[in-house]
Amino acid sequence: MTPSKPAVQLIDRFGRKVDYLRISITDRCDFRCVYCMAEDMTFLPRAQILTLEEIYTLAKAFAELGVKKIRVTGGEPLVRKGALELLQKIGSIDGLNELAITTNGSQLEAMAASLKEAGVKRINISLDTLDADKFKAITRTGDLQKVLNGIQAARSAGFEGIKINAVILKNRNHLEVNDLVQFAVNNGIDISFIEEMPLGIVNQHDRSEAYYSSDLIKADLARNFSLLVSAEKTGGPSNYFRISGSQTRVGFISPHSENFCSTCNRVRLTVEGRLLLCLGNEHSVDLKKVMRANPGDMAVLKQAIIEAMLIKPEKHEFNIHEQPVILRYMNMTGG
Ligand code: GTP
Ligand code: 5AD
Ligand code: SF4
Repeated sequence: MTPSKPAVQLIDRFGRKVDYLRISITDRCDFRCVYCMAEDMTFLPRAQILTLEEIYTLAKAFAELGVKKIRVTGGEPLVRKGALELLQKIGSIDGLNELAITTNGSQLEAMAASLKEAGVKRINISLDTLDADKFKAITRTGDLQKVLNGIQAARSAGFEGIKINAVILKNRNHLEVNDLVQFAVNNGIDISFIEEMPLGIVNQHDRSEAYYSSDLIKADLARNFSLLVSAEKTGGPSNYFRISGSQTRVGFISPHSENFCSTCNRVRLTVEGRLLLCLGNEHSVDLKKVMRANPGDMAVLKQAIIEAMLIKPEKHEFNIHEQPVILRYMNMTGG
């Protein structure tokens, strides 16, 4: 019997296995969240972005290299024309266990059922506040009711998992953490609290002054809820707790207070076709260039991806007390 060939895997210099790809399919968004963007944003011209076909080819190449989970992000992924068809195609790639999306929820009321049908298993929805005025202040253009309707549509569609993402800023929404958890419990969904990361220069607040740590949130929640430590993981950086007597998991994404880079399993593809090896560093490889120079050549593309693992940095180094070192805004990578 000939021994079977070992499956190809993506492994970096630190022995971490990369099996999670995040794909930003557009840098555009209908919101302008204060922690994500400046008020005045210039988006990429069409000529500079990957076509849907190119994104699909890249997703396929990664799956052939052992990637099991793909999360489609933006900007707001659902504002890109053809997003549904692309998701459907990615969802049918052999070997993938999970297709997920991260969305601001603005288009969900109309699209949730089709997303489920397209094969999306899990959906993360940004929701930082339940107060309509604060929602407007934080997103600059968003309509809370639309997002709440979107969340209900997602629940009705029956995804395997729905998670709220809440970026907590001191004196903007930190008093709402208990209400947000109660909302998650009432709706039978999960929630992650996120410490703001310094990507791009934002002009509406001082990130150092607005910092609100996961430990402070846990202390606030302990007044109303009993949080039970859980070893569960969803493939991302959240550390979870269970709320006793409910379905809800409460996650904490703590890039400042609890570095999670040693277990990093992911890389990111920007809509310009740049493979970013870490959210908090600029190490990258231009896969669009590789693809366009070698049309149809999967072997060359896959080799470029394998080699890219060699420059994956050990960890992010964020400092919220200084001007950001990473000038790329979060909408370029979708988090
Ligand atoms: P799950 O599949 O539900 O675990 O999703 P996720 O938490 O990986 O993805 P999501 O798109 O919901 O991102 C939530 C937050 O985690 C965002 O603020 C992301 O920027 C942040 N995040 C995800 N991966 C990384 C990472 O590798 N490094 C850093 N610093 N932040 C990350
Ligand atoms: N820091 C932390 N999280 C951010 N997000 C956007 N910008 C930032 C930032 N600067 C979050 C969004 C969304 C997820 C993809 O990333 O709220 O839920
Ligand atoms: Fe849009 Fe998400 Fe950025 Fe808000 S955080 S502006 S919803 S991409």
